[in-house]
Amino acid sequence: MATIETARLLLRAWRDSDVEPWVQMNADPRVTEFFHRIYTRELSETTAQRLRAGLERRGYGWWVVEVRKGTAFAGVVALQEVPFPAHFTPAHEIGWRLTPECWGRGYATEAARAALGFAFNRLGWNEVVAMTTVPNLRSQRVMERLGMTRDADGDFDHPRIEEGHPLRRHVLYRIGAPEAASGGLNRQSRPLR
Ligand SMILES: CC(C)(COP(=O)(O)OP(=O)(O)OC[C@H]1O[C@@H](n2cnc3c(N)ncnc32)[C@H](O)[C@@H]1OP(=O)(O)O)[C@@H](O)C(=O)NCCC(=O)NCCS
Repeated sequence: MATIETARLLLRAWRDSDVEPWVQMNADPRVTEFFHRIYTRELSETTAQRLRAGLERRGYGWWVVEVRKGTAFAGVVALQEVPFPAHFTPAHEIGWRLTPECWGRGYATEAARAALGFAFNRLGWNEVVAMTTVPNLRSQRVMERLGMTRDADGDFDHPRIEEGHPLRRHVLYRIGAPEAASGGLNRQSRPLR
């Protein structure tokens, strides 16, 4: 499984010691402000197992983000197939979630830029999408910093969120391999074996 190295970060496989900070992160209301589902300890533990196994099996997925000269668990960055049907699927997506102590330092963008480089250069994907609820502006700023473009006709109602829920409406951003190359993603991503 590839570990990805950036100037300040490692995107790496899960360790047993990541589970507790993952549980804590998912229990933090600042992190879940725009999440629809409630992460109980049990759900977080089960999810950690699934994400860990998926990353090991496929060689991409939900990487743990480690700060090389700092915290061993800063959060996660993910590459995956969009797991539900929508007007833009099948599609590959990127996502991120950091512990609040690690916000405001550019870590999410740095990790995501490296993951996009991996998606285009190593996995050969042609396009990657990102999505979030309309009010999650912090996440949309990451998309914009990455050079992703909001699909003007892309807004959609998330099929896994019930009608009338305030987080149901989502925005859709896209980035293609050529745009990523001109945005310097090739230089940012240095996968290691
Ligand atoms: C979405 C999320 C990952 C964004 O984290 P973030 O720290 O704001 O994003 P970045 O890593 O790109 O950091 C950018 C911020 O760091 C600042 N920064 C500081 N040093 C920096 C550096 N060296 N390089 C880049 N930015 C830097 C930027 O100015 C920017 O701050 P601003 O938005 O207040 O202007 C984070 O808020 C989060 O985990 N939220 C909860 C989970 C979530 O909503 N996930 C998305 C679901 S779709």
